[in-house]
Formats: sequence, structure tokens, C-alpha cells
Amino acid sequence: MEDHKKEGRYGRIYKQLSDLVVKSNNAQARMATIVAVLHHKMDYFFWTGYYLIEDGEMTVNSYQGPVACQILAKNKGVCWAAFNRQETVVVEDVHTFPDHIACDGRSNSEIVVPLKNKSGEIIGVLDVDSSQKAAFSEVDARWLEKILELIWIE
Ligand code: SME
Repeated sequence: MEDHKKEGRYGRIYKQLSDLVVKSNNAQARMATIVAVLHHKMDYFFWTGYYLIEDGEMTVNSYQGPVACQILAKNKGVCWAAFNRQETVVVEDVHTFPDHIACDGRSNSEIVVPLKNKSGEIIGVLDVDSSQKAAFSEVDARWLEKILELIWIE
């Protein structure tokens, strides 16, 4: 999808999510709502969900899409890279990413955005896969980072 089209779509999704999430103060409910809306409104999202750090491991949390790996081997793959670098990672072709963890062979590109708690500490990541190559751009990074902030909005 072209960046200008993404801008319009993310803008509408952000408005819809802003209205939806305030109906609950439960972070888990908000997280689930965010991935459900994103996954069904963005047709290039093939898998959309969270991995959270639990006892030093990255464990899957709420998601939409095909069944995925429950635990990601430590310090391997894109999710761990984003967590360790503490920044969003965009991968145009996952097959060229060292140690990429393929939960589903149909994924070709990926974006991983660090997920912060209310105090600003990184507790995991939002991971989105696409079956298209080079599906994600700086526009996805900026909007997904902004959407994750809705989890903690008062
Ligand atoms: N590809 C990810 C693993 C999670 S699945 O894509 C859902 C990674 O390399 O960390």
C-alpha cells in the first residue's frame, strides 16, 4: 500500500481505537482490541500480535492470524532485535534477516515495535508480519508507535 493511502487509513484507525480503548482501563483488553482492529483493517497484515518478556523469555500474547510460535528463542530473530535495540525494526525481506524465526513460511516482511509499560519500560513488542515483500515503511513505524501509546491513555 502506498504511504499516502496508509496515512489516511491509520488516521481513521487511530480515531476508532481512541474511542474504543477508553471503555476499559484493562491493558490486556486494550491490547487485544488494538490488534483486532489493526489486523482486520489493514489488508497487508498477515499476523498481528504481541510477544511479552516473561521470566527472560519472549512469550506470545494476544494476536490475530495463523497459529504462531509460543516462545521465541532468546536473542534470535526480529522481535528480540527490536527489544534489545529498544527501537522499531522494519525488515523488507525476512529471509535475509540473520536468525529470523519463521513461525509461518508465508511471511515475507515484518515490523516490530517495542511495547512500553505505563512507566516507559519496554516489556515486549508488537510484531506484524506481511506475506508481501517490503510491506512496511516509516509510516507504519510512526503510526504503530503512536497507537501503542493508547494502551496507557487515561
Ligand atoms: N518472525 C519473528 C517471530 C514471531 S512470528 O513472526 C509471529 C521473529 O523473527 O522474531
